Amino acid sequence: MVLLVIKVLKGFMRRILVRVSLLTLILSPLCAAQTSGLDKNLNDTQILGRRLYQQRCGVCHTPPTLTSKVFGPVLYKDLVTRNEATFQAVIGNGSKRMPGFKYELQPSEISAIVEYLKTVPKPAAAPVAGDGEHVRDQ
Ligand code: HEC
Repeated sequence: MVLLVIKVLKGFMRRILVRVSLLTLILSPLCAAQTSGLDKNLNDTQILGRRLYQQRCGVCHTPPTLTSKVFGPVLYKDLVTRNEATFQAVIGNGSKRMPGFKYELQPSEISAIVEYLKTVPKPAAAPVAGDGEHVRDQ
């Protein structure tokens, strides 16, 4: 009798295990699809640019919260498309308060960052940038 109960239980457990692994099999591609969904509208260059921007530039250019101050100006596509050449130059050479990146980044990497910035929408409430002025105003 006890043996029978154990056998039934074992069969039951096995069925649950099979179900769980099937579920994992079905769900994991769905999860993967969801994560990469964030990149849906970005091409490879823009994805590279976003990664580099987050690593190298975000510390000064991305506000940690919507209302906090950032050291540098918040960058988005309208700014970039009007000044693409200036932007490339500033990123390479730096400015008064920004380090230049021409020895750290390849020209193609700088272009990738610019390509990524061209996809960034203007933030709803642009936070006030530290006391950073725009380079072109100087
Ligand atoms: C140490 C902080 C710091 C880092 C890191 C930094 N920046 Fe800046 N950036 C600034 C500041 C501050 C300004 C405003 C100009 C000034 O005050 O010299 C600026 C200005 C700029 C401008 C000109 C904006 C305009 O409208 O004139 C661009 C473009 C720019 N940064 C891009 C980048 C990119 C791309 C990176 C990463 C590769 C980067 N910055 C990394 C601080 C930084």
